[in-house]
Amino acid sequence: MATDKNEILLKVNQVYNPPRHVVAGAYIQPEEYESLYEESIQDPERFWARIAEDELYWFQRWDKVRAGEHPNYQWFVNGKLNITYNCLDRHIKSGRRNQLAYICTNEDGDEVKVTYGELLDKVCRLANGLKALGVKKGDRVAIYMPQIIEQVVAMLACARIGALHSVVFGGFSASALRMRIKEARAKVVITATWTKRRGKKINYKMNVDEAVEDLPFVEKVIVAQREGDDYELVEKEIDFHELLQRHSPCCDAEVMDAEDPLFILYTSGTTGKPKGVLHTIGGYNLFTHYTTKIVFDLHENDIYWCTADPGWITGHSYLVYGPLSVGVTSVLFEGAPDFPNPGVWWSIIDRYRVNVFYSAPTAIRLFMKYGETWPQKYDLSSLRILGSVGEPLNPEAWLWFYEHIGSKNCALVDTWWQTETGGHMVTTIPSYRAKPGKAGKPFFGVVADVVDRAGCSVEPNTVGNLVIKEPWPSGLRTCWNEPERYEKYWNTIAPYYLAGDLATKDEDGYIMILGRADDVLTVSGHRIGTAEVESALVSHPAVAEAAVIGKPHELKGESIKGFLIIKEGQNNSEKLITDIKLHVRRELGSLAVPDELEIVDSLPKTRSGKIMRRVLKAQELGMDIGDISTLED
Ligand code: WTA
Repeated sequence: MATDKNEILLKVNQVYNPPRHVVAGAYIQPEEYESLYEESIQDPERFWARIAEDELYWFQRWDKVRAGEHPNYQWFVNGKLNITYNCLDRHIKSGRRNQLAYICTNEDGDEVKVTYGELLDKVCRLANGLKALGVKKGDRVAIYMPQIIEQVVAMLACARIGALHSVVFGGFSASALRMRIKEARAKVVITATWTKRRGKKINYKMNVDEAVEDLPFVEKVIVAQREGDDYELVEKEIDFHELLQRHSPCCDAEVMDAEDPLFILYTSGTTGKPKGVLHTIGGYNLFTHYTTKIVFDLHENDIYWCTADPGWITGHSYLVYGPLSVGVTSVLFEGAPDFPNPGVWWSIIDRYRVNVFYSAPTAIRLFMKYGETWPQKYDLSSLRILGSVGEPLNPEAWLWFYEHIGSKNCALVDTWWQTETGGHMVTTIPSYRAKPGKAGKPFFGVVADVVDRAGCSVEPNTVGNLVIKEPWPSGLRTCWNEPERYEKYWNTIAPYYLAGDLATKDEDGYIMILGRADDVLTVSGHRIGTAEVESALVSHPAVAEAAVIGKPHELKGESIKGFLIIKEGQNNSEKLITDIKLHVRRELGSLAVPDELEIVDSLPKTRSGKIMRRVLKAQELGMDIGDISTLED
C-alpha cells in the first residue's frame, strides 16, 4: 500500500473517464451535466416541478413548489401523495406486480424472493393491523429489527397510514433504544427475535424487553418470530406474522400532505444527546427517487445492492424508499461482510448478477486487507456502477475498488451526504469524469461551496467548511422536540447550511471531503459523537472525568480512544478498564466502545473549563499542538 503523501496527492488529481458502455446507456450524458446543473440552480422551482411531475404520482398537485421563510421551507405546498403509493401501487398498476422488489439472503445462503405485489400485500396487512391496534396518522412507531424483509414491511406500513417510524439500528444497546423510544413517545415498538451474525445468534427481543420496561405509553410490542422460535408472548406483545394473517391485504394509502412528517431518525451531534432528524414526505420522496435513479443510473431491470442497514439513513434512502420508488430489484443481505468467508459478498454479486453495488469505505478497506484473490474467484462482470458512502474514500481504496471489483469497467461514484440532507448532495454522476479521492460535483439543485468562518468562498484547494447555500427538497425540517438544534445548522455560518465537514474545492469545482470539523467521529462509517461516549464513560461509578478522541485507523477510518480520570480510591487495573468498556457497551452499544482507554491525572482544559480534545489528539498522534493560549495550565 502506498503511503507516500506526494503519491497520494498525485492520484487525487487524476481524472478517470467512465467506461464507454456506462456513458452510452446513461440517462444524463456528460455534456448535459453542466447545463442541467445550471438550470437546476437558476430556477430550482421549475426544475423540481418538472422532475416531480415526470417521476412521481400525486393525488393532488401542489400550489407552489417552494415557500416559507429562511430556514423554514416547505416544498410542494398542498401537494398530496403517499410515498408507499409511489413505491408499490404505482409499479403494480403499470403491470409490474411480479417484478422482484427484494431478493433476501443471509450468511447461510437462504433465499427469499419478494415481488412488488407480495410486498404491497404484506405492507397493507400490517398497516391494517397497526390501525386495529389504534395507531393513527402522526403517531410514532419505533422499529428495532435486523436486515430482513419484515423491517422494510414495518417501515412502509407506518408510511402507508401516516404514522412516523423511528428506526433504531440493531447495534444499539437497550438503553440507547429506550432513550429513542422515550423521546419519540412511541406507541408501538416493532422488533424481531434475533439476528445471526458470524454464526452467532444475537438477541433483539431481550433488548426491547429491557427498553420498554415501565414505559406506559408503549401500548404494544409487535414481535416477528423467526424460524425455529416458539416464544410465549406476554401482555402487550403481538406476533408479527399472526397480525399479518389476521388482517386484510387491502389498505388504501392515506392521502398525505407533502409536508407531513415521514420519519424521525436519531443521529449523533456534538452534545451527549443524539438529535432526532425529521424528514417530510414530498421532498424526501422526490429527492431520494431522483438521486437513486440518476446517481446509480438505474434502469428497470437492474439488480441493485446497497449493503447498508435500514437502521441508518443510507438504508432508509437507498435500500428502501429510493430503489422502491424507482422500481428496481434490490438485494437485502443479513450478515457480516466476511462470513463464512471474505468472498461472501462477491458470491452474492455473482449469483444474482448485481449491476449496481453501493457500499462503504470501511468495507472496501477490509476487502483490500483480505486481498484480490477473493473477488477473483467470482464472476463480477455484471457490475456497471460502484458506489461509496459514509466517509472519505481515499484514492488507494478508490483505485482498489475500481480495479479489483469493477475490473476497470465500471463507473465509481463517491457520494457525500448526511442523515440531515436525506439524499446525495455531492457526487460525480456516473457518466462524468471522476477524480479518485474526491466526491466531486454537486448534485442537481445543490449549491455546495467551501467557505471560511465568515462565509466567504476560500481559494481553490484551501481547506474550509462545507456549506449548502440554498435549500433543497429533502433537507431535514426540524429536530424532534428541539427546534433550536435545527436553527444551529443555519445560523452558525448564516445564512448557509453548515454540514460540519471540512473540505476543499479544486479549480474544476471538484469537492474533496476531509472529515468532520466538529467533535463527531466516523467509526466504520457509523456516526458517533465524542460527547455521547464521554457521558457513557462518566456514568460509570469509578470515572470522574472523560475525554474522547478519534484516532486514524486503517480499517475503521477512526477508532475511539478515551482518556479517564478515575475517582479517588479506585485502582487502575485491567479489570476496571474491561468493566468500563462493558459499561459503554451497555449504555450505547458495541459500536461506541473505545478501543483504548488511558487513565490520566488531568485533562487539558481551557480557562472556561472546556476540554481541549485537539490537544489530546495532537499529543496522541505526535503532532504540533497548535495554539494553546487558552489552555488553563
Ligand atoms: C461523512 C451518512 C466523506 C461526513 C450518509 C458526513 C462522508 C457524515 C461521505 C454523515 C463521503 C458521508 N465522503 N465523508 N462520501 N459520506 N460522510 O449522517 O462526515 O450517518 O457529515 O450519513 O458522514 O453521516 P450520516
